[in-house]
Amino acid sequence: MDKRGAALVTGASSGIGAAIARRLAEAKHDCVLTARRTDRLEELARELEKNHGVMAHVVGSDLGEHGGAQKLIDAVGALGVEIDFLANNAGFGVYGNFADQPIERVTQMIELNMTSLTLLTHHFLRGMVARKSGRILQVASIGAYQPSPLYAVYSATKSYVLMFSEAVNYELKGTGVSVTTMCPGLTATEFHEVAAHKKPKWMDGLTMTADDVAVIGIRSAMKGRAVVTTGIANKLTALIVKMMPRSWATVMAARSMRTSGA
Ligand SMILES: NC(=O)c1ccc[n+]([C@@H]2O[C@H](COP(=O)([O-])OP(=O)(O)OC[C@H]3O[C@@H](n4cnc5c(N)ncnc54)[C@H](OP(=O)(O)O)[C@@H]3O)[C@@H](O)[C@H]2O)c1
Repeated sequence: MDKRGAALVTGASSGIGAAIARRLAEAKHDCVLTARRTDRLEELARELEKNHGVMAHVVGSDLGEHGGAQKLIDAVGALGVEIDFLANNAGFGVYGNFADQPIERVTQMIELNMTSLTLLTHHFLRGMVARKSGRILQVASIGAYQPSPLYAVYSATKSYVLMFSEAVNYELKGTGVSVTTMCPGLTATEFHEVAAHKKPKWMDGLTMTADDVAVIGIRSAMKGRAVVTTGIANKLTALIVKMMPRSWATVMAARSMRTSGA
């Protein structure tokens, strides 16, 4: 198979991002991998080059820091690669009552989940539109569909990602470029550990693998779909939530977000 253009994957050092990078490399995309933990990225880059014969570049970035997205844009520019697939995947959540959350963490979360995602979309979208070809995959969350007590800011950032991306995707009709928003539910990654959320046991049965989620996201992006929710159980939940008054959906989210207390 001929090599295609390069993919930029944010948050490639772990979880869904690493799985997206593996699947894109398997499909012969050269990759630019970014996150803060560059040791992990270097290891992944060598793996992708060895297993799939692609070029894998590592660029360290802190996208939760003001100016981090522009530094990444400059570093990718210096590599001289053309990005034709952008996976805006990096993100984190903070679990607990909003009033108790450290405001620095909240600010980083907003910068990473919303501001950096917007700046990277804006920059790489323009090149894609000029070339009349490209795919952007935004990783939101099933939490985007309703207010989620105990993940109040996190789920609001993901609502932003969904609304913003769906609107931009509409604007792009006929350009050869699309923006797909993926809304995963529970996925086995480092997410809950980072969020300091001790999940109740019943959630294990609903948890998908990062690879399954990555495959769904890439396939949907390649088809140019506007939005995809991962897995039957999550699709059903999203459907029910859409039909409920928001006040009920808030109660439902609050109940499911509570820890087991174990
Ligand atoms: N797992 C779930 O249940 C779930 C459900 C719905 C949506 N999601 C979304 O899926 C996406 C991927 O998360 P995951 O589940 O794969 O969790 P994860 O294993 O914790 O991965 C998060 C990735 O984001 C990167 N990241 C975090 N802070 C960063 C920063 N300041 N600058 C640059 N990169 C940063 C991390 O890399 P470094 O720490 O090395 O920087 C890591 O590669 C996130 O947007 C998350 O909101 C996850």
